[in-house]
Amino acid sequence: MKEKLIQKFKELYGDGGDIRAYFAPGRVNLIGEHTDYNGGHVFPCALTIGTYVIARKREDKKLRLFSLNFSHLGISESSLEELYFHKKFGWTNYPKGVMWTFHQKGYRVDEGFDILLYGSIPNGSGLSSSASVEVATAVMLKDFFGFDMSMTDIALFCQYSENKFNGVNCGIMDQFSIAMGKKDNAIFLDTSNLNYQYAPLDMKGYRIVICSSNKKRGLGDSKYNERRSECDRSLAELQTVLDISSLGELTTEAFEETKEIISDPVRVRRVRHAVTENQRTMQAVQALKKGNLKEFGQLMNQSHISLRDDYEVTGPELDTLVEAAWAQKGVIGSRMTGAGFGGCTVSILEEDCVDAFIREVGRIYQEKIGYAADFYVVDIGDGARKI
Ligand code: GLA
Repeated sequence: MKEKLIQKFKELYGDGGDIRAYFAPGRVNLIGEHTDYNGGHVFPCALTIGTYVIARKREDKKLRLFSLNFSHLGISESSLEELYFHKKFGWTNYPKGVMWTFHQKGYRVDEGFDILLYGSIPNGSGLSSSASVEVATAVMLKDFFGFDMSMTDIALFCQYSENKFNGVNCGIMDQFSIAMGKKDNAIFLDTSNLNYQYAPLDMKGYRIVICSSNKKRGLGDSKYNERRSECDRSLAELQTVLDISSLGELTTEAFEETKEIISDPVRVRRVRHAVTENQRTMQAVQALKKGNLKEFGQLMNQSHISLRDDYEVTGPELDTLVEAAWAQKGVIGSRMTGAGFGGCTVSILEEDCVDAFIREVGRIYQEKIGYAADFYVVDIGDGARKI
């Protein structure tokens, strides 16, 4: 792949100079959804599919960006001196945002780049293609300019970029798992302090299958921000009676005792999700440590129900995929993953059942929703790196 892309780069921008290559994975979250901006736990892993960046530094401040996924758009030209967000800039907002963030944080990016990008993550599938582009860009900048920064710094910078440049108030999960991923491991991350542990996933005899609903996210980003502010408002109310700094500090019992203080019944449900999902995530990691994949799967299923009924971020497409998955032979657990409102589901199932699963769930989805879902049998890979 790398050689092919370098060849393409040379055809596009010419030969010579110091051409370098980088890769950042996509991610899938196994459990712990909409907990990362509430100081709770998450349990994602990096995938072997992701974003490739081929780059060469320039001597001026020009930026030339080209994506093989959007080749019809041609080369987009801009300059380090005019980095600002605009919807019409499409995918190029992501690398630009990261360069802007480095400036903001006092890291001098004073020479431009020629960049060729290729993503093997299906666009809009909910596997974090945008965070993958961000982290790949940050790893590239660190390498070319020799910046002294950790992979955690990189994750935080990319989150900052997504929040402040792209206007999506996401938590740290995507950027962190993409920066820190480890082959055949999931990451148990406490988002209140960024402490983390790798948890080996012994998948012998099982596979992780992603089903993409192919539903366009549409209002997804604004709904996402809305959920986040619902949680923030509820936290402020709870803080009038409890000494907590995030919803992640609440036990289910403490929530039950104090929930009356939340002035809106809808927001009571939002908080119930944030609290119970955090508990489920901790429980799920314990189950995995004991080798109890069955319990892990049941917790995944409960996670989906909570996201559907309390957090209300699923919708008919994701519900259809998950309910169809639950009914299939060999399925350990299935749930929506990522932000929701479209995007995809994650299922763990017996290897021998994968073909029948894809056929049946695909058929049910097509019949009920009216268009096809896509299926990916994925592997867990390492985090972002130079290749
Ligand atoms: C998106 C955000 C993450 C996280 C998930 C929901 O992927 O980028 O920070 O909040 O949604 O768990």
